[in-house]
Amino acid sequence: MIRTPICDLLDIEYPIALGGLGGGHTQPAMVAAVSEAGGFGAFGCHGLSAAKVSEAAAAIRNATEKPFALNFLLFLVDEDAFRAGLAEKPAGIALAWPRGDQDLKPYIDRAHDAGCKVTMMAGGVQEAVRGAEAGADVIIAQGTEGGGHVSWMASIVLTPMVVDAVAPIPVLAAGGFADGRGLAAALALGADGILLGTRFLASEESQLHPNFKQAIIDSDGHDTVLTEIPDLASGTVWPGAMSRAQRNTFVERWAGREWALRQNQGDVLSGVVAARKDGNVEEAPLSFGQDAGLIHDIIPSADIVQRIANEAEELIKTKLPALAG
Ligand SMILES: Cc1cc2nc3c(=O)[nH]c(=O)nc-3n(C[C@H](O)[C@H](O)[C@H](O)COP(=O)(O)O)c2cc1C
Repeated sequence: MIRTPICDLLDIEYPIALGGLGGGHTQPAMVAAVSEAGGFGAFGCHGLSAAKVSEAAAAIRNATEKPFALNFLLFLVDEDAFRAGLAEKPAGIALAWPRGDQDLKPYIDRAHDAGCKVTMMAGGVQEAVRGAEAGADVIIAQGTEGGGHVSWMASIVLTPMVVDAVAPIPVLAAGGFADGRGLAAALALGADGILLGTRFLASEESQLHPNFKQAIIDSDGHDTVLTEIPDLASGTVWPGAMSRAQRNTFVERWAGREWALRQNQGDVLSGVVAARKDGNVEEAPLSFGQDAGLIHDIIPSADIVQRIANEAEELIKTKLPALAG
């Protein structure tokens, strides 16, 4: 069985975490399934009211007694929702995307006072050190291969750099991981485990429209692009991030014409909302990572956790030792 020190820190069985995907991309059932299977589930609280955060935490607790995290985006954090999250005393508070001038320590201290472990996501070494110095218990090194909002550095270089920079604080590698090979590789790079987003979008619990799940299965991983177009459409300026999304008709229409998108933002957003509802994969931004090319089936979240753990264990026990002769 694959076990690393982070399993003791977070009281989980496998060093496999669900990213707290916001915007309705994580649901209590998905979070609970990941935690119940021995991973570390996380619920994305971005955009939710205090009441909705409490409701989600209760629904997760209804389905599992295992530890889970609540995820907040710092640059957009809503004080009432954050307070409601702390009041739930989840095992973890997962923080991401602070503004450059934001003081992280008060958020981390408050989470510690509520008895939570704190994970801090970083797309570069500097951000990782900032999170470590502010007191985070775990750093998520997020590479540019990942889906949704990401920075510039690739996981293969970022992971060991962050591991070295924040030692002895444990690091989870994120961005581009979707199977047991990825977990074994992350461990070899010095990480304590992995955190995944795209793989769980193509799970049975994911509430994405079936057409969007199918688009992930159909993708060969070569069809994503780093773009600000989804954020311009939603009207949210994201500090220090681009969004990795599929290069579809919607993105191609506005690429190089971002000024015109800004001018027509309201109409464009209405079109996106309608396209999402209709499952029109060409007319709504679809955030997923390059690892879509590694995802070939829609299965229960628990099976994703178990499969990754089994594959990595098999690799580490048999194939890799044989290489060392
Ligand atoms: C649709 C989508 C929404 C996301 N929303 C959040 C979020 O609200 N908070 C967060 O910390 N990370 C968010 N992420 C990033 C994930 O936590 C994770 O870092 C990323 O998905 C890892 O790369 P992968 O997609 O290759 O697994 C999101 C990712 C996706 C694909």
